[in-house]
Amino acid sequence: MISVRDLKLAYGKRVLFEEVNLNFTKGNCYGVIGANGAGKSTFLKILSGEIEPNKGTVEITPGERMAVLKQNQFGFDEVTVLDTVLMGHTRMWAIAKEREALYAKEDFTEEDGIQAGHLEHDYGEMGGYTAESDAATLLSELGVKESFHQSLMKEIPSNLKVRVLLAQALFGNPDILLLDEPTNGLDIETISWLENFLADYENIVLVVSHDRHFLMLSAHMWPMWTGRK
Ligand SMILES: Nc1ncnc2c1ncn2[C@@H]1O[C@H](COP(=O)(O)OP(=O)(O)O)[C@@H](O)[C@H]1O
Ligand SMILES: [Mg+2]
Repeated sequence: MISVRDLKLAYGKRVLFEEVNLNFTKGNCYGVIGANGAGKSTFLKILSGEIEPNKGTVEITPGERMAVLKQNQFGFDEVTVLDTVLMGHTRMWAIAKEREALYAKEDFTEEDGIQAGHLEHDYGEMGGYTAESDAATLLSELGVKESFHQSLMKEIPSNLKVRVLLAQALFGNPDILLLDEPTNGLDIETISWLENFLADYENIVLVVSHDRHFLMLSAHMWPMWTGRK
């Protein structure tokens, strides 16, 4: 669950929102709507911790994992398509790297062995052993063919990049999913895939979209955002 209490954000004298009190609960997809400049993106950035509010708090149930659709298409230029998706699960990715570094050590000690045991346990719990094939399946479902999976992000066309970034956000079924204008740059087929994906999604989704058709199909309820009070 995400609990928002008495949230306020202003840029100078311009109050985007204040006294916002909301709970977002499991199993619901919330459509965030409002005019351009109303503060939708800012609101999502506060939820993800990218921006500090002027007032109020955002609390997330401990242990819940949040994933955010990245907006910067060039943020993973030097990373392969498959790794870009895997990096969406930041904790699992960190453990994978820690494991690699540990096993690469020349002087592997007894303590290293114990540490490796802990890492293997956590990695397995998170689904690490099937992560690569899960990521590959998700990519293929989103129309990113296997021949692209080992390409660098900078080498693939931008219509594929948006799908990879979407796969990154969805990878590993995060408890909380924040999607700001996810249909931008997507073809009709992928939008329709995403509608179905979100309609069946059992965790929390917040989606900003101008596309009413998309919202109606994917959001269970959307009586919320009108920007400024
Ligand atoms: N860092 C900032 N400094 C000052 N004003 C900002 C900043 N970021 C956004 N704004 C302004 O806040 C308003 C809300 O922006 P945004 O959240 O991007 O709106 P939306 O996503 O609803 O279109 C806009 O008027 C924008 O110009
Ligand atoms: Mg916006």
